[in-house]
Amino acid sequence: MKTKVIDIIAKAANLDTETVSNLIEIPPKADMGDYAFPCFQLAKTLRKAPPMIATDIAQAIGEQDIIERLEVKGAYLNFFLKKEMFVKDMVEKSTAVNFGSSTIGEGKSICIDYSSPNVAKNFHVGHLRTTIIGNALYKIYSKLGYKVERINHLGDWGTQFGKLIVAYKAWGSKEAVEKDGVAELMKLYVKFHDEAEKDDSLNDQARDWFTQMEHGNEEALEIWQWFVDISLKEYKGTYELLGMEFDHYLGESFYRDKTSDVVSRLTDANLLKESEGAKIVDLEEYNMAPCLIMKKDGSSIYATRDLAAIFYRKATWNFEKCLYVTGQEQKLHFAQVFKVVELLGNEWAKDSLVHIPYGLVSLEGAKLSTRSGNIIYAEDILLEAISKVKEIIAEKNPDLADKDEVAKIVGVGAIIFNDLYNQRIKDVSFKWDKVLNFDGETGPYVQYTYCRCASILRTIAYNPNADIDYSLLLDDEAIALLKEINRFPQVVADAAEKYEPCIVARFAMDVAQSFSRFYNACRVNVEDDALRNARGKLVEITKTTLKDALDLLGINCPEQM
Ligand code: ARG
Repeated sequence: MKTKVIDIIAKAANLDTETVSNLIEIPPKADMGDYAFPCFQLAKTLRKAPPMIATDIAQAIGEQDIIERLEVKGAYLNFFLKKEMFVKDMVEKSTAVNFGSSTIGEGKSICIDYSSPNVAKNFHVGHLRTTIIGNALYKIYSKLGYKVERINHLGDWGTQFGKLIVAYKAWGSKEAVEKDGVAELMKLYVKFHDEAEKDDSLNDQARDWFTQMEHGNEEALEIWQWFVDISLKEYKGTYELLGMEFDHYLGESFYRDKTSDVVSRLTDANLLKESEGAKIVDLEEYNMAPCLIMKKDGSSIYATRDLAAIFYRKATWNFEKCLYVTGQEQKLHFAQVFKVVELLGNEWAKDSLVHIPYGLVSLEGAKLSTRSGNIIYAEDILLEAISKVKEIIAEKNPDLADKDEVAKIVGVGAIIFNDLYNQRIKDVSFKWDKVLNFDGETGPYVQYTYCRCASILRTIAYNPNADIDYSLLLDDEAIALLKEINRFPQVVADAAEKYEPCIVARFAMDVAQSFSRFYNACRVNVEDDALRNARGKLVEITKTTLKDALDLLGINCPEQM
């Protein structure tokens, strides 16, 4: 219908369809029509007042079989479509197999660098956010046809491992590390810093061990690899709870033999400068602090490995975009790294390399039983959410089948939804009664709406293959629901363009709320077969759309809860 309306306007106004399609809008309120065409932009070229233009176009359009009436309102020409045709069109669109997806990304690849925890450190709530946001972006871009590479850029290399080896050899034991994993490694790390304050020679030993690692010393690498394996096992437990996976675990260590290439590229391009024995790229001209490339002792750093990673990824996947999901505090780091890539003569760096920052997580009000000290593990938050949902189920629906599985889907879903419901850059706070409120703007509410749809379709005599009498779907609430649902393709495209999964989360909530208005106003389980099947169709479309939208966020739907 939209294409038809666009054609009609284009013909009447003597414009090309692309111009019209860029201008045409969906009005915010139903009484403003189904589509609106704003005329201010044309005022300049036509040298006429916008309302005049709108009136002229309306006249040129005249009678059309899909249009019920036209209305000029200020600068807008509002289109009221023949409702039945409009409804038919919307039902057909939203029942299509690929509803919401597109092919704009076909043949193109996108790298997403996210999660990326630091080995021997806890997987904290910040890592939870990058994992959730990165995974949603992966789903959203895949829906648009892109081939997405999910990359976990583990922090598994650097001088801190020299310190850990020293600490492990001095105060650690194999049993303790095997038993307590990351928690024990963190204790050793803290111990190292306490002791090094008193005895500076420990720092020299640590530097030595790291140099040994860089030179391939077997003993050093064996201990290091063990730390990596132990940490990874814990992180994978968290990923499994979340139901999220990666295509590549390519941590910083993967680039350790690729940083010398970065140094030679920079040298050849005359970009390296000496500064107090270290090697840097001066970025003063761009109002940035210099980008440190090589330390005095010749070792590479975080930025060097990021540069190597960019060249590796470009060569391996020829990405159209490479996205980095990290906290805001790394803004300068990425600005520097991206600038250096550009200075090496890579114009693509400007549009292709994108830092996607997010706000902080605050846990006020969410009491957690932390394992040791005040260190918070993302996994504990997920487990706590699951156990709280179990309590709610025990109280409200004790006979539910698959209780544990449902509690997991709902608990984890609640955390993910809470994380994605607001713009990335906003801080996220946790209050259990808010996050888990089944009547609020929450994941559980959307999942519950999905379950309601499922249960309606199970209990009424609904025939999904019956022909639909579209004249039975003209109630305001039915049309409003269909309009809401039909935004889906645009919602997915917008979310990708702005790197904002919240656009999808808000959409899911809007559909759920719109469904609730429809269900209150229009009885579905009626005697009349035709009416029951027509309304049942809306329930079915709502159900699939909610499932698809939640899936884009990384959230599953139980059939009952
Ligand atoms: N390991 C880092 C951290 O935990 C995040 C890495 C982000 N990715 C990158 N390519 N630098 O803060």
